[in-house]
Amino acid sequence: MNASNTTNTDTSYIGRPVNRVDGVLKVTGKAQYAGEYNTSGLLHGIVICSPIPRGKITSVSTSDALKVKGVKKVFTHENVKGLPWFDLSYKDMELLPGSPFRPFYSNEILFSQQPVALVVAESLELARYASTLVRIQYETAEFETSLERNLKKGFTPRRGKTGYEKPKSRGKAERALKKADVKVEAAYFHGAEHHNPMEMFSSTVLYENDDKLTIYDKTQGVLNSQSYVTRVFGLKSKNVRVLSPFVGGAFGSGLRPQYQLFMSVLAALDLKQSVRVTLTRQQMFSFGHRPITWQKLELGANKEGRLMGISHTAISETSRFETYTENVVNWSGRLYECENVRLDYQLVPLDVNSPLDMRAPGAATGVLALECAMDELAYALNIDPLELRLKNYTEIDPAMKRAFSSKNLMDCYKQGAEHFGWEKRSYQPRSMKDGKHLIGWGMSSGMWDAMMMPARAKARLTPDGKLTVSSATADIGTGTYTIMTQIAAETLGLPLNDVTFMLGDSSFVFAPFEGGSSTAASVGTAVLYVCQNIKEEVFKLAQKIDGSPFHNTSIEKVVFANGYITSEDDPQQTIAIAEVLQRSGVKFIEEKSTDLKLKNLIKQGKYSRNTHSAVFVEVKVDEDLGMISVTRVVSAVAAGTIINPKTSRSQVLGGVIWGISMALHEDTFLDNNLGRFMNHDLAEYHIPVHADNPEIEVIFVREKDEIINPLGVKGLGEIGIIGVASAVANAVFHATGKRVREFPITLDKVF
Ligand code: MOS
Repeated sequence: MNASNTTNTDTSYIGRPVNRVDGVLKVTGKAQYAGEYNTSGLLHGIVICSPIPRGKITSVSTSDALKVKGVKKVFTHENVKGLPWFDLSYKDMELLPGSPFRPFYSNEILFSQQPVALVVAESLELARYASTLVRIQYETAEFETSLERNLKKGFTPRRGKTGYEKPKSRGKAERALKKADVKVEAAYFHGAEHHNPMEMFSSTVLYENDDKLTIYDKTQGVLNSQSYVTRVFGLKSKNVRVLSPFVGGAFGSGLRPQYQLFMSVLAALDLKQSVRVTLTRQQMFSFGHRPITWQKLELGANKEGRLMGISHTAISETSRFETYTENVVNWSGRLYECENVRLDYQLVPLDVNSPLDMRAPGAATGVLALECAMDELAYALNIDPLELRLKNYTEIDPAMKRAFSSKNLMDCYKQGAEHFGWEKRSYQPRSMKDGKHLIGWGMSSGMWDAMMMPARAKARLTPDGKLTVSSATADIGTGTYTIMTQIAAETLGLPLNDVTFMLGDSSFVFAPFEGGSSTAASVGTAVLYVCQNIKEEVFKLAQKIDGSPFHNTSIEKVVFANGYITSEDDPQQTIAIAEVLQRSGVKFIEEKSTDLKLKNLIKQGKYSRNTHSAVFVEVKVDEDLGMISVTRVVSAVAAGTIINPKTSRSQVLGGVIWGISMALHEDTFLDNNLGRFMNHDLAEYHIPVHADNPEIEVIFVREKDEIINPLGVKGLGEIGIIGVASAVANAVFHATGKRVREFPITLDKVF
């Protein structure tokens, strides 16, 4: 794929592998991250976390720490009082039902590694040293962190505000399963995972007189952080500006404000000075994780391999103070044609911090179990695993009984299988070898939502022909800067270099957090609309210019390209966009796009909107050494219009790697005797490194969607991980003949 940037002579940008517009800034270290902003007199905070999972703080002694010269203050529940959010009900404040965790609220300990103190000093080193001098006594209470021991204590959560849909059963699954010719029944389990983006969570709060704050925060949504700060501390929005122009990965961990934001603002307001708090890698394990989940699948089919009944139960953990929900089982009622489906999702509250959305929350795990069970069913039926998927293919959404806005999973299967060479697979487990290595080929389907959320954009065109577009959205490494620049440049017919897209600033017009793979569709549509508005304004001006060639021409009869407006019929009739503004004497043209146009939403509402994938994986297994390596992956994705094949491919590559990680490596080990996650650094929390990552081929199948939005964009990112871990697990079975139903598949479970 040719990845070079386009030249100024062609302004069709959508669908081109344009290089990241922020790429140079990133690789030269000029892109600044939240913890890298400095100011004179900046203070530094170090957080102290609880070693016990549940109980009380009985005493705090800070006198030794405070004796250290340069130490400003130690904040604990003893001296932090009277914050607005301590006294109010904040049910609506954050994403989850329940009460969000409030640091320093009381002496109560709710989970291991709960932050209990903040030491603020003139330097990071001083703060770190002084933190070792703070003495905190605890009284431990009884605690329970084991999901396995408490599977019977699950409750069924209600439909939430966060996109959680209570699973709906249909038909008579139990009866259908009993009558099925062939049936499989299996339980799957996976432990906790922590997001672990490369960049640590950090907030730098620049303090100005009268409690005016400028905050550089690591977040997936600046408006989220801004609203959190104003409500917790009772500040006015105009006095709190949150910026996050660059984010070093997040994977969902930045969907809600993290406690370093609370702490740095607390200290800055109290000391009336600028403060930075950066969490350590160990502390990155103190908040948010993919919830430990137990799942049970029952699949029944007739002799021909048609699904007769599906039953899927998932039981996940949540904290005692919040109800964290995700759509785990729902996919099992939507991927295949089947009349009888029983779905059940339960939660068990435990003495842990609240889980948090992580890399395709719910689907990464729910589809994992479903697709492993489908493989088991294929072997019970003695048919090819891909053939089983094809036999049960559905053109409509069987849960909603309505059409998809578009669905080209079929081409994902076909092209994925062809590129992988699936037809050369020999069916029997342990039947493919390369020397002494066992070879395994496995596959899986994937499915994710194509979401759109209300979003706005603002654009300003100046007489030098430069366009600036802004929105309070984020680029968490996904390529937002680049694709928004492409959309704007193409819509207005400007060279790419004349367009600047800005994001990550709470003073910009509204956009939601970057999450759920919704940004390209949501903000992209807003950018399209605002640029269309500008285009209309420019054309009106062009018509009014003395001697305008467009007096009697309508906008439909001209082309905006290469920075010019040109008549479709007569290429001689042309005028530069910049010249239009210059000759009209306007300083600039500015437009704001309103929320998604109603017409669009009504049209959308009649259809199910999803992305799909088919993943094919090869593993090589060394039985002597107990080693499993993934040697090849083909991921075929159907996600509507691909604005930029280069950044999109990178999105899917990342997803595939996280899928391999989920299958073979990642696991935060919870010691239920201590109630504590034990492996809290990257030495012991394993993620795939280069040597673990194979050749990955990404295919985007053609999928034209005229319903979802005018760009036909469905969004990408999360679909990249879904189905990968199941394809790996199925490949491990094919190689070894052993079904491992507990993730990650480490060698002790296979050999
Ligand atoms: Mo993603 S888990 O929606 O940031």
